[in-house]
Amino acid sequence: MNDQASTLRTMASNTMPMEISAEKQRLQSGIFGKTQTGTRCIAVTGGKGGIGKSNLAVNLSLELGALGNRVTLLDADFGLANADILCGLAPKYHLGHVFAGIKGLDEVVVNISDKVSLIPGGSGIEDLANISGNAREYIFAELQLMEENTDFMLIDTAAGIAENVLGVLLSASEVVVVATPEPTCLVDAYATIKVILRHAPTKPISLVVNNFVGMAEAKQVYQQLNSAVYCFLSSQIEFLGMIPHDSMLSEAVREQVPVVQYAPDCPASRAIRLVAKQFNQQKQKDRDSRIQLQSFWETLANS
Ligand SMILES: Nc1ncnc2c1ncn2[C@@H]1O[C@H](COP(=O)(O)OP(=O)(O)OP(=O)(O)O)[C@@H](O)[C@H]1O
Ligand SMILES: [Mg+2]
Repeated sequence: MNDQASTLRTMASNTMPMEISAEKQRLQSGIFGKTQTGTRCIAVTGGKGGIGKSNLAVNLSLELGALGNRVTLLDADFGLANADILCGLAPKYHLGHVFAGIKGLDEVVVNISDKVSLIPGGSGIEDLANISGNAREYIFAELQLMEENTDFMLIDTAAGIAENVLGVLLSASEVVVVATPEPTCLVDAYATIKVILRHAPTKPISLVVNNFVGMAEAKQVYQQLNSAVYCFLSSQIEFLGMIPHDSMLSEAVREQVPVVQYAPDCPASRAIRLVAKQFNQQKQKDRDSRIQLQSFWETLANS
């Protein structure tokens, strides 16, 4: 860890190398993978706890929905699933009940807006990929069908890079890493990116800087991280956006209303809206792309 910290500090003054292979450029320029039906599966992750992953996943889902997309939000933080709490909901059943054969998928899904459905996570699921039992095929087929009927599937993950989280990240078509300007968070974000790229060297990874105070500090987070990723992992990450520290966001959490609904014009909401717009533009580009990937669930089931 110390090595990575000093590495990142050394990289702070480095500028972005200009040369990059055509293949890498294509993969980094927003031509993300998609499923056969065009669903983009975006896993939201980060090396540390409490850095804003769930808030980004929930609010980004709502903003993508507001742009006319059908969105499924999967709460895959099974230890501390809380996307429902952030929305002021307390669903009785979750994905664990589906896997246990107690409920059907349609009975656990809750709508958090007219365009956004939430699959609540819950305890009792250790590893999505290793679900056993007779119903396994049926459940994955159901989940896949749901995925096919959405434009975006966002997946909120637990902090860190435990094996069960890694399986989800590798099955998603792209990964959004959340990082704050804290040095420890930066190092943890780098460690997360390193593990993902070791297993999937072409996985599109982008960065959202959260909870920053000064603009310069936020930009530095991306430059430092991207320089380190380029120099030591021979890859690059895309810059997706930055969300300032905003007391409205903490207030919205306390009120259990997503901030884009609680205070639509506060700086954090406006920043999240910009991230959603960027994703939406990439979606238009993707329609012309001929890259075809397996569904998230199919990939996960076969992993
Ligand atoms: N941009 C921001 N401005 C102000 N406060 C923020 C911001 N982002 C996050 N927070 C604070 O951080 C808290 C944790 O956010 P969140 O639950 O989204 O983090 P997380 O990374 O999902 O945490 P965990 O790893 O526990 O799942 C929020 O309740 C909020 O108080
Ligand atoms: Mg969370």
